[in-house]
Formats: sequence, C-alpha cells, structure tokens
Amino acid sequence: MKTKVGIDRIHFYIPPQYVDMEELAQARKIDPAKFTIGIGQSQMAVTDYKQDIVTLAINAALPIISKEDRDIIDQVIVATESSFDYSKAASIYLHEALKINRFARSYEIKEACYAGTAALQAAVDYVRLRPKRKVLVVTTDIARYGLASSGEATQGAGAVAMLITADPAILAIEEESIAYTDNQFDFWRPQYDTYPRVDGKFSTDLYNQTFLNLMEEVGERKPDFWDAYQVQLFHLPFTKMGRKAIKNYRQYLSNSTDKISDTDQKLKALDLWEKHYEHAIEYSRNIGNIYTGSLYLGLISLLNYDQSLKEGDKISLFSYGSGAVAECFFGELQDGFREAILFKEIESMFQKRRKLSIEEYEELYLKSIETSDGIIEFDPSVHEGEFYLAKIDNHRRYYKQKISHQNDSKM
Ligand code: CAA
Repeated sequence: MKTKVGIDRIHFYIPPQYVDMEELAQARKIDPAKFTIGIGQSQMAVTDYKQDIVTLAINAALPIISKEDRDIIDQVIVATESSFDYSKAASIYLHEALKINRFARSYEIKEACYAGTAALQAAVDYVRLRPKRKVLVVTTDIARYGLASSGEATQGAGAVAMLITADPAILAIEEESIAYTDNQFDFWRPQYDTYPRVDGKFSTDLYNQTFLNLMEEVGERKPDFWDAYQVQLFHLPFTKMGRKAIKNYRQYLSNSTDKISDTDQKLKALDLWEKHYEHAIEYSRNIGNIYTGSLYLGLISLLNYDQSLKEGDKISLFSYGSGAVAECFFGELQDGFREAILFKEIESMFQKRRKLSIEEYEELYLKSIETSDGIIEFDPSVHEGEFYLAKIDNHRRYYKQKISHQNDSKM
C-alpha cells in the first residue's frame, strides 16, 4: 500500500486589529449591504505597519512545530505575494526563528494566490519520496488595494502554516491533481507599484470561467469525482466568490444546448457543495482576503464548523491565482482530524482582537516603515503574537521573541 502524505498540522495567525465592514461602508457612503451581502464580508483584518509577512508567518508556524520536528524538517517554503525583499526569501527569517536544523532548504514561491498550492504540492512530492522527513509550508500575505479603492472591501491579512508529513493526522493529499495556466491580466503588480492593478469585473469572470474549465476536465479525468467527493473548497478573495462560481457553473449546465455529460449528477453535486459552503467561509468573512492562504483558511473553517464531516470523507480543493494559474486537487480526512487542530487558540485570537475606528484604520494604513539608512527599534507591544519585528538596521530586519512567551509548540 502507498504511504499517505498530507497535512499533519495546520494553524493560522491574524493581526490583532480589524475593521467593521458596516462602519467602513458608512464612511465610504456605500450601502453596508453591498459589503456584508453583495461581497460577503463582516470584518477585515488590518496590520499595524510594524507587522509584516514574516511576523505573521512565524506566529502562525510556532505553535505547530515541536522540538523533534526541528531536526526532521528538510524544507521551509513560504508562499507570498507581499514580499518586502526581491531577493532574500522570507522563509530564511522563519527558519531562524523556529530554530529549524541548519541543513534544511528555505525558499519563497510566487504566483499570486496560487503560490500556497505550488508550495504544498512541492512539499507533498518531496515527502512522498522521503516519508521520514517533513516540510513546513507557510502562506503569508497582506492584501491591500488602497483606501477608498473598489478593492478596499476585499483586503485582509494573515498567514497559514502547514506541516507536511507521511501518515498525516488531518488531510491525506492524493497524488493526481489537475493544474491550469492561462496568460491573462486580471490582477498583477509591477514592481514599481505599491498596490496591485486589478480589472475587478474581469477578475471575477475569469475566476468563474477557470473554475468551470477545470471542473469539466476533472470530470473527464476522474470518472468517480461527481459521486465520491463530499465538499468543494474554493480560493476565497471574498466570501461571495465561491458562491458566484457555483452559480455560474450551474447556469452553464442548465442552459447549454450542447450535450454535457452527467449533467444531473453534476447539478446534484453543486447542491451538496452549497450546503457545506457556509461552514468554509466563517473565518474568511471575519478576516478578508489573505491571498495565498485563503483556500487553507477555508479548510480550517470547514473542519471547525462542519460537524457532519467524518474520517474518510473526500474533499476537492480549487486553488486560483490571478495571472492566471489554478489547480484542483483532492484530499481525504483522516481519523481524529478535528483533535489535531488548535481551535481554542484560534478562538482566543479572535477574542483578543481590537476593533479600529475608521480614522485609526486610515491613519495606520498610511504609515509605513522609514526607508532611510540607520537604526529603527520597535517595541513588542503591537503584537499579540510571540514574535515581533524588533529592529531595522541599515535595511536589515531583525525579529525577536517576547521574553514572557519563550515556550515551545502547543503540540
Ligand atoms: N445590497 C446587496 N448587494 C449589493 C448592493 C446592496 N446594496 N450593492 C451592490 N451589491 C452587490 C452587487 O450586485 C454585486 O453582486 P454580484 O457580483 O453577485 O452581482 C456585489 O455586491 C459587488 O458589487 P459590484 O460588482 O458593483 O462591486 P465593485 O464594482 O465595487 O467590485 C470587486 C467588486 C470586483 C470584487 C472589487 O472589490 C475588486 O476588484 N476586488 C479585488 C479583485 C478580486 O478580489 N477579484 C476576485 C477574483 S481574482 C482572485 O480571486 C485573486 C485574488 O485573490 C485577488
């Protein structure tokens, strides 16, 4: 029998501040229902300017890495589209902070929101060949479109850490997946731009069309797909997006004059997907878009809120990155998957968050780290997490662990 490989541990970290979407809508003179119903967001995580992708990533990973893991982890892979450095990988800071053994590989992967899946697949393939070794994958992003921009309501920030091992405790990933590439300009960020360029309407249409094209291919290549998979998870730039993709696919199936194979079976599967969908969007609704990690945030949300799921259930995951690259891959829930997730710590993170007024949010948004030479020191008070950005010395960033928190993993 083949060794199962997949997600053994998973955890996320969000900044300790958020904005209420109804208040944001009022400040922008927009009907709040557009944000809460039309886009499907209630709260939006916001970073302090001293919180960067590295502090988010370390704080996501620290609770799931044990002392023993540090010697067996062969790779630290960070997926991000919010890098502050064009050369040095964010994973190197992570490698040091987590005290991973020196003989490990550390690198960063980019392809918009799809990058987390590229990292996960690289990790799974590596461990399949070396079942005694482990790989740490961390997605980390700060999504920003600009104050009062049309994308403002779809911002967010956060990191998801996943430990990939053989005989995983949570989700075994299947060997076969189906990827998709299509050169398009729906969302991209030239290196001279602070904010991404986005063709909003086109981006949602492209997402829908990509999903449809992939699903039809999945049906062709995997004849048991429409019967065997209980849940379809989506990349969630905002929580309405997956629902739009299901609706678009349903319309295609219902309206097409061409004969589409297995239409009734497919429509039944869409009904089932919609039932599970609500559970998968709970966290995203209160955090926003975390780009590379949003699909995985959906997975954690599903496993927390969907009590109907059990060991052996099969999940299909749709990963999408603008530009565009997508992939549909598949997993099977493992015995005891719920106990392997730190739900109490996640709950406590939400409880400790502070709501920002819109004035505070705007002030924070416009602040940035000085880019001049010299030394800037920061205090740890801005972070609820254990690690913080302590110093920038001639453009070199240094991170520190709070003294009161110098403990090991929660696992
Ligand atoms: N009550 C209820 N609903 C309302 C409403 C009201 N008063 N007013 C408007 N709405 C609804 C609209 O009918 C619309 O719903 P449908 O899409 O179902 O028709 C929804 O609210 C949004 O309204 P608009 O389309 O008018 O909103 P907008 O023009 O301001 O733009 C957006 C929305 C395109 C998502 C924009 O926020 C944006 O550009 N976001 C960034 C890009 C993005 O997230 N794209 C997603 C696909 S790309 C991707 O997935 C990669 C990634 O992570 C970026």
